[in-house]
Amino acid sequence: MDCIVIRGGRHLKGEVRISGAKNAALPILASSLLARGTSTFKNVPLLNDVDTMRRLIVGMGATIEPADAAARTLRICTDGVSDFDAPYELVKTMRASVLVLGPLVARHGRARVSLPGGCAIGARPIDQHLKGLEAMGAKIALEHGYVVAKARRLHGAAIVCDIPTVTGTENLMMAAALAKGRSTIENAAREPEVEELGRVLNKMGAHVEGAGTSVVTVEGVEELQPIEHAIMPDRIEAGTFMVAAAITRGDVLVRDVVPEHLDAVVAKLRNAGAEVTPEEGGLRVRGRGELSPIDITTQPFPGFPTDMQAQFMVLATRARGQSVITETIFENRYMHVQELARMGADIVVDGRTSVIRGPSKLSGAKVMATDLRASASLILAGLVAEGETEVLRVYHLDRGYEKIERKLRGLGADVKRVRERG
Ligand code: EPU
Repeated sequence: MDCIVIRGGRHLKGEVRISGAKNAALPILASSLLARGTSTFKNVPLLNDVDTMRRLIVGMGATIEPADAAARTLRICTDGVSDFDAPYELVKTMRASVLVLGPLVARHGRARVSLPGGCAIGARPIDQHLKGLEAMGAKIALEHGYVVAKARRLHGAAIVCDIPTVTGTENLMMAAALAKGRSTIENAAREPEVEELGRVLNKMGAHVEGAGTSVVTVEGVEELQPIEHAIMPDRIEAGTFMVAAAITRGDVLVRDVVPEHLDAVVAKLRNAGAEVTPEEGGLRVRGRGELSPIDITTQPFPGFPTDMQAQFMVLATRARGQSVITETIFENRYMHVQELARMGADIVVDGRTSVIRGPSKLSGAKVMATDLRASASLILAGLVAEGETEVLRVYHLDRGYEKIERKLRGLGADVKRVRERG
């Protein structure tokens, strides 16, 4: 297996292009199942999670061209879809596989999707997805670890989510798009990826209003059409490079971003003392002088994203004074803490809150993380640590960051991917 080896101490400089958003691409690719015919998606990021979604869809009988996993433009033809299964082997590697549930029940009247089970960052149930589908008339059973959903034709329903859930809102929007009548989803997730899916569904001929707000209304239609669509940029990849620039006292233009998606992240970077300036084509981040401590509570959008929590913890280790980070979305998203501590960080965790005292002199070490964003934080730590850091289990990184080592090298970082040493 590969690992990433970083020698810290370089100031990052230059420009980096942000890839298509993982968490927008996954529901959008799943939405192709709602229509017959061939949809074309551009700016698809080259990620393992996207590849998992591709395998899921192909497993159902769709064809995807080119077959090559290195293609950013995918043509998905769903005419041959005749199998409605999302098998355990794929779902266990990617929870977002559950996004095929809504489209399959809505268009084909049945789906059999493995229950995702727990994951490294918490229990993450899908009860809200199921409750909403049941309200639309789906009969749901749990059989041998699988959710089996059946429906003649879904009907519109008034759904109030107990908590805002991103993939839950997306699943219900896709299901409602083909349901008979009007659905409302209250307490919906407001993330930009949900808004983007609303745009995609409307392009397909759906009648979705309010996607990106807490009340989404969907007037169901009989049929949807295939479309062509380019995936929007990844705000979390962008945020990760912005932190990299700030902590290395660099000067980086992060290109191909949607600045409004990054307001909470930019505000915290500025609080910490980094300079963030909008420029033609992107956001420039300069790290100057000493960083100030930060106080962060993760929240659903437009609050501070849980997907940036681990990266900001590394920033907090560089700041003079005491920073406080509270994780409210997932109950177990501090797996990076132990590894950062091994590199010399001073972090105390009490329940959902962590207190970070800085600045700490980080020293390179062999580290390993069990989730995507935790792995990204270890790469960031490696960029500012003294000596060599070896980040193991890079398959977590490859799920959500496209060629991160190449992009960092383009900014002057000393980083390479090598075969894991024994
Ligand atoms: N939850 C429930 N019941 C449900 C659904 C969610 O209790 O039916 C809980 C979860 O356990 C969690 C909270 O609600 O405590 C919010 O979870 P949400 O459903 O919003 O998360 P998700 O849809 O599974 C997406 C992203 C995650 C991101 C979260 C939060 C995708 C494919 N994944 O997950 O991305 O952290 O929203 O913003 O969109 C990542 O990219 O690294 C990542 C984990």
